[in-house]
Amino acid sequence: MKELTRAINNHLASEFQASHTYLAMSIWLREKDLVGFSAYMLTKSNEERGHASRMIAYLVDSDQDVELPTIEAPQRDWASVQALFDHVYDLEKGVTASIHHLYTLAEGLGERSATAMLDWFVSEQLQEEAEARFVCKRLRLAGDNSAALLLLDQQFLEGTALAHVKGGMGGSDQGADAA
Ligand SMILES: [Fe+2]
Ligand SMILES: [Fe+2]
Repeated sequence: MKELTRAINNHLASEFQASHTYLAMSIWLREKDLVGFSAYMLTKSNEERGHASRMIAYLVDSDQDVELPTIEAPQRDWASVQALFDHVYDLEKGVTASIHHLYTLAEGLGERSATAMLDWFVSEQLQEEAEARFVCKRLRLAGDNSAALLLLDQQFLEGTALAHVKGGMGGSDQGADAA
């Protein structure tokens, strides 16, 4: 297996692991009756599977091997909603670092179809980190105030919580997530 193909296959684990962890987070939030946050994390879980699918499609289209990774059982308990979203932010930063590593590798090898594929991911990660940072900051503002937490939960349910974050860089290509 070529070095870049191996590296892309390795990256699939980051996307699937994020998907699995976000699903566990969605369940934990649902158990706390924070239905807006829960729905948001379920959507994010599905988006991460979409990211993996996108890379798998690239590998297949360019006649390279796909080796699906083993996914570990995710963490399933968090100290607070704040701690959970700090975890989301850390995960996203890890995924960004992995994407940038792939990009550097592809550039060094002159693999233009790979850098073209990865351009979408670079923009997506910028958006994902901006979202996660925004939610973390909102939660810090809410502090121990339950009413503020419930208001944010309601905004996630109504789809308005991230209205000022989405589209910061022309928006993430949401419609293409399942591609
Ligand atoms: Fe992702
Ligand atoms: Fe992500």
